[in-house]
Amino acid sequence: MKGIVLAGGSGSRLFPLTKITNKHLLPIYDRPMIYYPIQTLVDAGIRDIMIVTGGRNSGDFLRLLANGKEFGLKHINYTYQEGEGGIADALALAEHFADGQKICVVLGDNIIEGDVKSAVEQFRAQEKGAHILLKEVPDAERFGVAEVEGDRVVGIEEKPKRPKSTFAVTGIYMYDASVFQKIKTLVPSRRGELEITDVNNAYIREGTMTHSLLDGWWTDAGTFDSLLRAANLAAQSVARRQGEAGETASAVEGTVRA
Ligand code: DAU
Repeated sequence: MKGIVLAGGSGSRLFPLTKITNKHLLPIYDRPMIYYPIQTLVDAGIRDIMIVTGGRNSGDFLRLLANGKEFGLKHINYTYQEGEGGIADALALAEHFADGQKICVVLGDNIIEGDVKSAVEQFRAQEKGAHILLKEVPDAERFGVAEVEGDRVVGIEEKPKRPKSTFAVTGIYMYDASVFQKIKTLVPSRRGELEITDVNNAYIREGTMTHSLLDGWWTDAGTFDSLLRAANLAAQSVARRQGEAGETASAVEGTVRA
C-alpha cells in the first residue's frame, strides 16, 4: 500500500501564523506538524510516500524532509497543488504515484496518539472499496460526521449544524484505485472545494465502505484552539514516554545493582 500526506491548502484559519509559512511546517510541541502524519504512515509499515504541498513555501518541505532519512525512508515523492481546490483535488494529484495500488491518505494536520496498523492490515485484506477511521468527539459539528446504523456507516455529512452522531470522520482514509475515477465525477461544494466527504459517500452508496474506531487521542491542528490542544497532547505523550523510559532505565539499573 502506498501513503499520501495532503499538506496543501492556505491554512487561512491560522492567519497570521500562516501568512509567511505553510500550516504544516508550524510546530506541534517539539516537531513540525508534517512529521506526525508521516510518522503515522511509517508506523503502519508504509514506506512509499508522497507529499502533496502547495503555496509559496513548498520548497521548505524538501529542505526539511529531504529523502525522509529521519523516518528511516530512502525516498519521498513530492507534488504541487495549484490553488486550494479541496482535499479531493489535492488527492487527485497522486493518481500517477498510486499507479493502481491501494492507498492510505493522511491529512497533514491530523495527529494521533496511537497507530493505524491494524486498520491498514484489515484494508489490505479487503477486496475493494474504502476504509475510514472514526473517533467519538464532543464537537462533531467541526468535522465530517458519520451516520451509523448497526455496524454500518450509511452516510457522512460535512460539518452539519445538527450532527446525527458524535462520530467524527478522522483525516485518515484508505482507498482502492477507483478513488481517482470517483474524484473525476465530483463538483465543487458550496465552499468551492472538491470534498473528501463526497468521495466517501460515493463508496458508501456503492456498499464498499468499511470503518473502524481509532484508539487513543486524535486531533486536527487547523485552528488556534486545536493547534494548542495538539501541542499539549503531543507534550504529554513525550512526557509519558520519557517517564516510561525512565522507569525502565531505573528498573534495569536496579536489576544490575541487585
Ligand atoms: O480533520 C478531519 C476533517 O478534515 C474531516 O472530518 C472532514 O470531513 C474533512 O473535510 C476535513 O475538514 P477540514 O475542513 O478541517 O479540512 P481542511 O480544509 O482544514 O484541510 C485539512 C487538510 O487537508 C489540510 O491540513 C491540508 C489538506 N488540504 C486541504 C485543502 C482545502 C490540501 O492538501 N489541499 C486543499 O486544497
